[in-house]
Amino acid sequence: MDTSTKLNQIIAQVEVAIDQLVPAHDGSDAGPVRIHAAMRYSLQAGGKRVRPVLALAAAALFKPAADPMPAAIALECLHTYSLVHDDLPCMDNDDLRRGRPTAHRQFDEATALLAGDALLTHAFVLLATHYGTAPQLATALVRELAEAASGARLVGGQMQDLLAEKKTSATAAELDYIHLNKTAAMLEASLVMGGLVGEATPVDLANLRTAGRHLGLAFQIVDDVLDATADSTTLGKTAGKDAKAGKTTYVSLHGIETARRLAQEQTTAALEAIRSLPGDTAFLLQLAESLLARAK
Ligand code: IPE
Ligand code: IPE
Ligand code: MG
Ligand code: MG
Ligand code: MG
Repeated sequence: MDTSTKLNQIIAQVEVAIDQLVPAHDGSDAGPVRIHAAMRYSLQAGGKRVRPVLALAAAALFKPAADPMPAAIALECLHTYSLVHDDLPCMDNDDLRRGRPTAHRQFDEATALLAGDALLTHAFVLLATHYGTAPQLATALVRELAEAASGARLVGGQMQDLLAEKKTSATAAELDYIHLNKTAAMLEASLVMGGLVGEATPVDLANLRTAGRHLGLAFQIVDDVLDATADSTTLGKTAGKDAKAGKTTYVSLHGIETARRLAQEQTTAALEAIRSLPGDTAFLLQLAESLLARAK
């Protein structure tokens, strides 16, 4: 099976699992229909599903006893919360996400804020519920996702990203901090959580983490390049907004050509780490290359 057929197959499984594992409220009693509608609105808008796919691909290297899907969906819930909040007027103030009006545009700011809160919380409900019979695994998964999403990582990176807006003196080290935390933390967690479900050894987990860090840096550099070079219809989100907002990005700091080269270097480092993993790594290797190819 070629990579894109396999990828589409996994994405289709992820879509089914999202529908099954994320609550819907049918309005049959006085319960909160609106919050469930808003959660599903942002989740089911057709993102690329990079994080769940990475988690499932990592788990597949090890023939896991437990089902990695709930962990994969927890990652997508947490990521989607970060997008809903990232788009809010007090953050990046965006109108378009995943080809649809952003959550606060479709509903209102309070609903978007609460939908984000609920998606974040639901990620941990999934981990605690579906891995409850394997307490050590559940603890490791909760810890991994919580640390990735914490004030030291995703949220910390988002904070520094906002503080670096319109800052002309931002350094390459500051930018690396932002990328390593606002984006790479979650790609690291995706591969590592897949490995945890697969009962990977500490050495394999360390290699998964290294691969995720490089892949995450490459991914955000590519996101910055696409913001400057692609159109809104292709991206499903507003193009050209980083320059307009005065964001510190790889493109603003290094220029497009150097940014592309740096994304290539990070991808090469990720490929090297993936090659050191056991099992059939062909799909993960091709996935890493295809994420880079988006910016060509
Ligand atoms: C967007 O993530 C935010 C970044 C970390 C660059 P994705 O590019 O994975 O967005 P979706 O999930 O496909 O919508
Ligand atoms: C994404 O950074 C970071 C997170 C959502 C955690 P961006 O602000 O560049 O993401 P997009 O471009 O809006 O998707
Ligand atoms: Mg942002
Ligand atoms: Mg944004
Ligand atoms: Mg961006």
